[in-house]
Amino acid sequence: MKRKDKKYILSIESSCDESAASILSNEGLIISNGLYSSSKIHNQYGGIVPEIAIKHQGSVIPMLIQKIINTSGIKKSNLIIISVTAGPGLTGPLLSGIQFAKGFALSNNSFFLGIHHIEGHIGINQNIIADKNNNLFTVISGGHSNTYTIKNNIIIILGETRDDSSGEIFDKIARILNLPYPGGPIINIMSKLGNSNQYKFIIGLKRKKTLDYSFSGIKTSTYNLIKIIQKKNCTIKKPIALHICASFQKTVILSILNKILLACRQKNIVKVFFGGGVAANSRLRQFSKKTYLKTGIKFFFPKKKFCTDNAIMIAKIALNKIKTYKVSALAMPTYPKISIKNKNIISV
Ligand code: KG4
Ligand code: ZN
Repeated sequence: MKRKDKKYILSIESSCDESAASILSNEGLIISNGLYSSSKIHNQYGGIVPEIAIKHQGSVIPMLIQKIINTSGIKKSNLIIISVTAGPGLTGPLLSGIQFAKGFALSNNSFFLGIHHIEGHIGINQNIIADKNNNLFTVISGGHSNTYTIKNNIIIILGETRDDSSGEIFDKIARILNLPYPGGPIINIMSKLGNSNQYKFIIGLKRKKTLDYSFSGIKTSTYNLIKIIQKKNCTIKKPIALHICASFQKTVILSILNKILLACRQKNIVKVFFGGGVAANSRLRQFSKKTYLKTGIKFFFPKKKFCTDNAIMIAKIALNKIKTYKVSALAMPTYPKISIKNKNIISV
């Protein structure tokens, strides 16, 4: 079949500061993919300002869709499914993508399908999973730090964060150190030049049997150290900042791996699949290799560009759903806080 005769899916992801879109064939082949982030604009405010994200998305999403359709060489009439992140995320940014997707689906006579953002982060690994059962899935991102298993196609939450999420504390510590948003990538780079044993921070819920995470202790102990140094010296000099980044990053990684290993022991699991922005962390990937040598537990990571928010992960889940004739109503609302447990209400 020639490319123009095939059926394709267009997907949009705009749950936070990004505008992402992709076109996949109905066999899951990536035809076109693009992403614009407004993170640089948010930098001066030290975090995401939803109004700025919406303004950016309002002009960028239509341009991006036009661009990926043009580069793909596919006729609009062959885009038979339009999928979009329905939630969780920020209400305004979600609405930017959803409203565009609805309008496009309506005018193009395409099926419309809303997708749960976390299901996307979990499902990005689906090509490398032989059997979904008996694996552990960990989504560590700006909004979530959760551990799951899947049984008979049902996602079961084993552990959640009780306070901040792992990505959130990377962003907050970066902000205190006057580093740009998002904090994870820059702390990752700076840590390479620092001594990770220089400072000791608290690993939350370390000796507890729960599979929940807690990151607020690391955040507060790092914050307190920074304030003490700032009080003495006014500004934090470069080598000290590098050591703080490295020691902080190591503690976050050990906190994550600590709970993952506990979950593997409790549930007799030997394969762990990561998703979410923090999974792009190079030190986490190194530690995971070492942990495999010690324990035999295998860790799988998506490509770095598919750890952070992207539209491919939304399209992949939509393709699975359409095979079981799932669609969403054009009246679908945004679901800013929807739990993964309720993901099935998005489509019927
Ligand atoms: O999955 P994501 O793009 O958006 C959410 O769903 O939240 O994750 C964004 C988060 C941010 O907090 C960012 O600082 C963090 O992922 N992040 C990283 C790295 N790259 C992104 N954290 C640690 N190391 C990285 N290399
Ligand atoms: Zn995400």
